[in-house]
Amino acid sequence: MAEAKKLGGAGLRGQVAGKTALSTVGVSGSGLTYRGYDVKDLAENCEFEEVAHLILKGALPTQAELDAYKTKLQGLRSLPAELKTVLEQIPKEAHPMDVIRTGCSMLGNLEQEDTSTMGVFPTQEACVDRMLACFPSIICYWYRFSHDGVRIDENTGDASIGAHFLHMLRGEKPNELHERVMNVSLILYAEHEFNASTFTARVCASTLSDIHSCITGAIGTLRGPLHGGANEAAMDMIEKFTDADHAEKEMMGMLERKEKIMGFGHAIYTESDPRNAIIKQWAEKLGKDVGDTVLYPVSVRCEEVMWREKKLFCNADFFHASAYFFMGIPTKLFTPIFVMSRLTGWAGHVMEQRADNRIIRPSADYTGEELRAVTPIAERG
Ligand code: COA
Repeated sequence: MAEAKKLGGAGLRGQVAGKTALSTVGVSGSGLTYRGYDVKDLAENCEFEEVAHLILKGALPTQAELDAYKTKLQGLRSLPAELKTVLEQIPKEAHPMDVIRTGCSMLGNLEQEDTSTMGVFPTQEACVDRMLACFPSIICYWYRFSHDGVRIDENTGDASIGAHFLHMLRGEKPNELHERVMNVSLILYAEHEFNASTFTARVCASTLSDIHSCITGAIGTLRGPLHGGANEAAMDMIEKFTDADHAEKEMMGMLERKEKIMGFGHAIYTESDPRNAIIKQWAEKLGKDVGDTVLYPVSVRCEEVMWREKKLFCNADFFHASAYFFMGIPTKLFTPIFVMSRLTGWAGHVMEQRADNRIIRPSADYTGEELRAVTPIAERG
């Protein structure tokens, strides 16, 4: 089992900042559990929508509930015309995380959450369902319009969110392997306790703000390379390596120069990230499927070097890079996929915070000047 670090000090590390019934990290099972289920078990046996149901509604669905949930989400995929107009104004060079952040915020203008009675949120679940259904549409609509000049149809008819996303992106229905990997990937990224973006969402929720503001803030937080942006940064690195020996030589140089290597290390896990073993297997399968002889061996060598030299292990992001690459997903869309999934965890935490709320307002150790009087402006040198 991947144990949690026991640390204090900077970055609030090791400090308990609240309660949750949603997940545990480094406590039981393979190291990550959602509402008591091991993520390994969920990734082997479930579709992403089952896990979304578990996180958002508290229990794994029956077959009838799952079918109804998927049908409902399928009916919520169309984007409002005003949102499409906004997406069409965003340049090709924009970062897709900025696009999804704007898309989420615009949706909040067009379909505002009912916050008319303070502390009561009767439409929160409906807002979350809508975001879950249409975030893939927002990403693909902008991407295909800005890059290919195509206005996609957001209604592909695919039952699963993962297949629907790939279909809109690539213009054709994905094969079973790709649909399965998307399901696994979305499950692995769905929830992770009090990580930085989730904590952002909870802080925002604690002010009794609306859910689109909570999610918009979380997206901005996830964007950073020390958080969700690591899968893109890992891809940028590994695609420069021509073979495993080249990777080793370059990695040694980076370590010598004390550079941060993206996709390695974790704030909580000490010896391994349980999500890595799962996505690594799928990356290997996908690599074989496309006849890869470079990227997967390069990735494995990077993993070996980092463990041998630094005892640093791959986190969830590292093998996601090659897995997504093998499925033909452009690197700059890696982190937005994380958003499509983590939305469930963020929303689960927002609802949990709202159900037992006190505004989050910690204190700071003051390191500034002693109390002093204002010098009149004419006398300041
Ligand atoms: N590459 C090189 N060195 C690393 C490293 C990495 N990816 N991750 C950690 N280290 C080093 C740190 O610099 C630190 O060295 P120091 O003691 O000489 O300063 C040491 O290992 C211990 O760091 P640690 O306390 O474990 O990291 P953290 O909790 O402060 O940060 C991360 C955790 C995830 C932010 C950090 O590992 C990181 O930046 N990883 C790369 C980004 C990434 O993949 N993020 C996705 C997380 S899921």
